[in-house]
Amino acid sequence: MAVLSRAARPVSYFPVSPVMLFPEALGDFSVYLWQGGDFVLYTRSGQKFTLRHRQSLHSNGVNEVYVRSSEKAQYEQYIERNLGSILLDESLPIKLRSRVFYEASAVVMQDVFDNRLPTALRARHFERIAEIVKSSIKFLASDNTLSTVAPFISHDYKTYTHCMHVFIYSVAVFQTYGMSDTEIFECALGALLHDVGKAKIPRRILNKRGALTMSERAVIKEHPVHGVSMCAHLPMTQNTINCILFHHEKLDGTGYPAGLKGDNLPLPVRIISMADVYDALTTERPYAEAIPPYEALTLMRHDMRQALDMVVFKRFVAVLSGADMI
Ligand SMILES: [Fe+2]
Repeated sequence: MAVLSRAARPVSYFPVSPVMLFPEALGDFSVYLWQGGDFVLYTRSGQKFTLRHRQSLHSNGVNEVYVRSSEKAQYEQYIERNLGSILLDESLPIKLRSRVFYEASAVVMQDVFDNRLPTALRARHFERIAEIVKSSIKFLASDNTLSTVAPFISHDYKTYTHCMHVFIYSVAVFQTYGMSDTEIFECALGALLHDVGKAKIPRRILNKRGALTMSERAVIKEHPVHGVSMCAHLPMTQNTINCILFHHEKLDGTGYPAGLKGDNLPLPVRIISMADVYDALTTERPYAEAIPPYEALTLMRHDMRQALDMVVFKRFVAVLSGADMI
């Protein structure tokens, strides 16, 4: 059998949305177009992208450009380096910035969650996540942002997209409670990382179709504690840890891992729990169909009124309806 030499090994590429070619940003990776059955060089590594590049792609109906897989790390660093300034650049349309926010967060979160984390969240991953939170909080705080981000919220369940959704909803509600910038940052970080402990749960249990056995359910219930232990070496405050550890607690004390009750549950945790339940209900999961927003909220109000904070629930509904999401 012939063995491919290193030089002859086929080159692989991954698709990228042209919106990620930020005007005036320097890309230290090359960009290719798919033309006539082959990859054709569009911009070289070290070349600045310009508005003209993007307009030309747009006017030619190009929806995807490509980057070599060997330059994936450079691409990801480029996204993170530029995200903060892009999101706050008011000369760019809010719809475009919303898409950039969603796609850039997805790049980071997918990388973190798909790399089956061994025992701990690596400091380098943590720094990337903290940067995303820092870059996007101000953006998510501006008026109408939630409604422009909403169309990107996918209804296919993946742990990393679920974490992003809970983060988006929670930040929108945090703003309405007049929390300080520091508290919002710490709790937003907790919202984005709330399910990180699921990286330690076997996929056959996480993705099982049909009912879980008692012992499988017990394994799943360990994920908040796993999450905290995976982050134990990182510079996190108690606010962030509370959000990870207690997001499955319920007001009536029937939640886990500690069975906390009532006032013992901090407000940001109640908000994250609300967003968590809502996103789970409105998203397609391996074991359940997605249900429409209005039905999900009705179910939460009728069947979960002992478990969820109904004052926070009203605020949550107001935020969603303000964004035309119901
Ligand atoms: Fe969870």
